[in-house]
Amino acid sequence: MLADRIRWNEKYRKQDCPRKVAEIVRRFAALAPGRRALDVAAGNGRNALFLARRGFTVDAVDISEVGLSRFAGKNARVRPVCVDLDEFDIPRERYDLIVNILYVNRRLFPGLREGLRPGGVLIFESLLAPSDPSAAAERRRDYYLRENELLHSFLSLQVLSYRELESEGEGEESRRLASLVARRRSGG
Ligand SMILES: C[S@@+](CC[C@H](N)C(=O)[O-])C[C@H]1O[C@@H](n2cnc3c(N)ncnc32)[C@H](O)[C@@H]1O
Repeated sequence: MLADRIRWNEKYRKQDCPRKVAEIVRRFAALAPGRRALDVAAGNGRNALFLARRGFTVDAVDISEVGLSRFAGKNARVRPVCVDLDEFDIPRERYDLIVNILYVNRRLFPGLREGLRPGGVLIFESLLAPSDPSAAAERRRDYYLRENELLHSFLSLQVLSYRELESEGEGEESRRLASLVARRRSGG
């Protein structure tokens, strides 16, 4: 959506976003059976670049060309692609690993499952709705996961890890995260 592009371009121009690799990606990427990865809403490329250093070839998709420009050309194994995920369809059975960090787009959920090759791994971590939401959080409630939503949405995969917990963001106050690691079954 155009509004997302404008908002995120502005944000990436003004401020530095987290550069540290998401811990869940660092911990679980090695479970992937091969080396073809998709980073959904790749941001400044922190996770895509990490995966490339681990030998993955990464399609890094995001709507913000300013975010994408932060990592374009830094590693030949990363392919930055400017797309609107409200209109993008994840190719079926293409990836050994899909990471979706700090981004929620429910339209993509079937594609996140079906984009995995058999045995492929999904790593999904994003914000849970605050337990005591402010008016601003209320307006943004579609961006938040609900309790157990991630778990229920990916039950057709083999769930390897699921957690809901408070966590410190990089330079931010504490926030609530839901984190899922799941594998597509070989026959599924
Ligand atoms: C909170 S950032 C997370 C970035 C990255 N996953 C990370 O963990 O560093 C959310 C990202 O979603 C992207 N985004 C928002 N709406 C989008 C859309 N409609 N299509 C594609 N990307 C979108 C933004 O540009 C931004 O980079």
